[in-house]
Amino acid sequence: MAGTGGNLNVVSREILPGVRVYPNPTDVARGGARLFVDYAWQSISRYGQFCVALSGGNTPRTMYGMLASDEFRGQVDWGKVHVFWSDERAVPPEHPDSNYGMARRELLLRVAIPQANVHRMEAEKPNIGRAAHEYEEVLRQHLELDDRGFPRFHLILLGMGADGHTASLFPGTRVTRQTSRWVSTPIVAKLNARRMTLTLPVLDASMRVLFLVVGAEKAETLRAVLEGKADPPLPAQQVQPRDNGLKLFLVDEASAALLESPPSQKTSPLRGKPPGTTRLKPGRSK
Ligand code: 6PG
Repeated sequence: MAGTGGNLNVVSREILPGVRVYPNPTDVARGGARLFVDYAWQSISRYGQFCVALSGGNTPRTMYGMLASDEFRGQVDWGKVHVFWSDERAVPPEHPDSNYGMARRELLLRVAIPQANVHRMEAEKPNIGRAAHEYEEVLRQHLELDDRGFPRFHLILLGMGADGHTASLFPGTRVTRQTSRWVSTPIVAKLNARRMTLTLPVLDASMRVLFLVVGAEKAETLRAVLEGKADPPLPAQQVQPRDNGLKLFLVDEASAALLESPPSQKTSPLRGKPPGTTRLKPGRSK
C-alpha cells in the first residue's frame, strides 16, 4: 500500500481498560484511522451518516494523512460523512495555525467529501461570540440531541496538552465549568489567544470520544488523567461520556512510560474490556 509507512500489522497492548499502547506515533495514527473507518461504517449503516468532530494540534495530522491514503480512503463512504471541529484558533482558514486548514490539506482536499458536509468553526470572525452561536445552529441542523438536549456526535477526536487541556478547555479556565452552552469562546491567557471550542457537556454527550496522545512530555499528565488523581481534575480527565458512551485513549509507548498495568477494574475511570495484547490484521478493526 503506497505512502503510509510504518508496520501494517499494528500491534497494541491494552495497558488499562480503554487505553491502547502502540509502539510509535505512526502506529497510533494507523490505529486511529482504523477505528475511524469502523465507526464511520457502523454509524452510516445505522444512522445513514457519520458526524465526526476533528481535533487540531499536531498529533492527528498523520492519522488524517493516512485516512486520505490508498490504504484507507476507499473504505469510507465520504459522501455520508459530516466533519466538524472540537476546537479552533481565532485565525483565518489559510493561517498556519488553523485547525481547519491543517485538516483540509491533510485530508479533506484528498477525499470525495462534499463541501456542504464540511462545517468549520469560523473563529476568525470579528464577533466570535456570534460565530459561536452560529456554530450551535449548524450543530442543531445536523446532529440529534441526547436526552439532556445536547448534540450527539458519533465520534469526537481529541488530543491532550502536557498541561492536561483538551480541545480548547484549559485547566482552571471558566469554560471548563460551562454546563449549558454547546460552543464557547474562551480567552486562553497563557497563549494570549482566543479560541472556539465544544464544551464539556457536548463532549460528554458523544457516542465515542477518541484521544490520541503521543510523546514523553505528556507521560506525567497522562498518568494523572488516567489515575484520576489530579485535583482539581484536568480537562482531559473531566471528559466522561454519558449513556454508555466510549472513551478510548490511543497512546504511544513514550507517553505511556509511567503507566502501570493494570490497576483493578474497580478503580479505573474508564469503561472497557480487561487488558490484554491485541494483534490486528490489515483491514477492518475490532
Ligand atoms: C488545538 C487542539 C488541542 C490539541 C492539544 C494537543 O487546537 O491545539 O485541539 O487541544 O489537541 O493541544 O496538541 P498536540 O497534538 O499538538 O500535542
